[in-house]
Amino acid sequence: MHRMMPVGPLMIEHRLIERMIGVMRKEAERIGAGGVPDPDFVDSAVDFIRDYADGCHHGKEEDILFRELAKKVLSPEDDRMMQELIAEHATGRDVTRRMVEANEKYRAGDNSAIAVLVECMNTLGGFYPRHIEKEDRHFFQRAMRYFSTQERDAMLDEELEFDRALFHARYETIVQNAEVRVSGSAAGEHADDRNSHARDSFAAKKAG
Ligand SMILES: [Fe+2]
Ligand SMILES: [Fe+2]
Repeated sequence: MHRMMPVGPLMIEHRLIERMIGVMRKEAERIGAGGVPDPDFVDSAVDFIRDYADGCHHGKEEDILFRELAKKVLSPEDDRMMQELIAEHATGRDVTRRMVEANEKYRAGDNSAIAVLVECMNTLGGFYPRHIEKEDRHFFQRAMRYFSTQERDAMLDEELEFDRALFHARYETIVQNAEVRVSGSAAGEHADDRNSHARDSFAAKKAG
């Protein structure tokens, strides 16, 4: 049976990331033309970028695909491009962090943060489409040549498991936060042992 390549799910995720990036570019344009910023929109865009684009999507790229590629002898060009892609993920995290800070300042009444919000949205809006194009059109297909069918299938399985664990970890976190808010402590004492792979990588991305 022919299965999807492990880059298949990653390319599907790129389409959703592009849609959110498109909305952010429109929002930056609206505010740039004098519109009033919408901090709730920025919150939802940041949640999407952190949880989906970074936690779920870059998580699978870095913790599965790039990890497996690092075990191979890559051509100098492929190796250089992989390092570039990793550096771009880090840039995305930095810009997102600045956007969160600017949003907090704006909420606190600091109008000088508006220009930073617009600049961050424009930076992400310019940078992500190029990053995605580099992966879709250049890196992913070349990367697949390094793997046997068995290795590709194993990566695809690991990606599906990564998503499954991440989904459940996300809702477990929501319940834990609700418990802390209402009663001051979380009830599930073994909660930390479950879905640790996805959550660890997720937490590392958020912290890093
Ligand atoms: Fe990427
Ligand atoms: Fe990607």
